[in-house]
Amino acid sequence: MTKETSPHSKENDEQPLPPNQVTKPLTPPDHTDTLRPNPKELLNGAPISLARLKKFAGQNILSVDDFTREDVIEFARFAAFLEAVEIAPYHPLDGKIVITAFFEASTRTRTSFESATLRLDGKIISIPDAAITGVKKGESIGDIGEMFNAYGDAVIMRHTETEALKEILGNLRIPLINAGNGSGEHPTQALTDWYALLKWRPNLAQPFAGDPAERLHLGIMGTPGTMRAVKSFLLMSLLFKDHLRKVTIVSEMADPLGPELKDAITDSGIEFEVQADMSAIVNDLDVVYMNSIALLGGSYRTMDRKYKLNAQSELKPSAVILHPLARLDELDKSLDETAHNLYFTQAHGSVFVRQALLLAVLDRFHRLPENSPLQ
Ligand code: CP
Repeated sequence: MTKETSPHSKENDEQPLPPNQVTKPLTPPDHTDTLRPNPKELLNGAPISLARLKKFAGQNILSVDDFTREDVIEFARFAAFLEAVEIAPYHPLDGKIVITAFFEASTRTRTSFESATLRLDGKIISIPDAAITGVKKGESIGDIGEMFNAYGDAVIMRHTETEALKEILGNLRIPLINAGNGSGEHPTQALTDWYALLKWRPNLAQPFAGDPAERLHLGIMGTPGTMRAVKSFLLMSLLFKDHLRKVTIVSEMADPLGPELKDAITDSGIEFEVQADMSAIVNDLDVVYMNSIALLGGSYRTMDRKYKLNAQSELKPSAVILHPLARLDELDKSLDETAHNLYFTQAHGSVFVRQALLLAVLDRFHRLPENSPLQ
């Protein structure tokens, strides 16, 4: 960062940035230090591309299609920087107002976006429930969007309806971040998923080089065609196809993908299968992505609940599990204390991914420390 653009004092220059004191590290299960991946390994001394992140200034984030593989990697590396240093003293979102408009239930996405904003010294207008808005009186999402233009600098919206994004975009003139639209997409969750994977295996940020047999077998215990988080994860995973040996969807459904995803995975050239017998492949999986809750027709349904994992499951010792959460009994708590648990790292890392997104969309790079590794 240049001195001209930084508001910070000279004392901050050239000083090593102190470690992040805000986030308490996870206590890893015994003998599982690999599950407390060090974000600095993703930084690897190389600069983060400012030009690549600045492309997102003032932009909407609606879909995984908004990202290239290089974008995902640079966002993950920026998140790693934000995780590794104490950024709060620089107040980079000072003066900005973020509206979190959640017209559907959330534990993680809303609170992690709000935490990300508050830790950067931005302010929040929080709408945790459609019932406290004019929606209760029949007001349209389009009209609500028109109001948001005057009240905030960016909107983070979750909605039960897939088409709600289009409706609000018709009137919105500030950036919109999609926090989950019906059975559509959940792109910031996919970034969070890949941030966890890139910290776990930093070599995933490099083109694959090595024995093809060492590429990853990705197993999905969920229904990508109807579960937005699973869909976005799968689409983002296709950007890293050179690291994938095979994708297996564990499902009793004849077609858990739907035509759009089936075309995407076919076009990628990755070997894939739909397997109803989990026991036939579970001991070959390197990464397992789980979810059982789908939002269908405005209500929650559970799908393929017979597929469950616990600490006794015949997983490879090195296999890791991701889950967007909330979980039901498909992901047993006995796994929490095992080396397979990447899902808590995934959930906790979301704050830094969302900080990275907000700083990019609101173009606040000039508020970062002088010695930030962005060039
Ligand atoms: N992963 C996720 O979207 O969780 P929430 O529904 O709690 O936001």
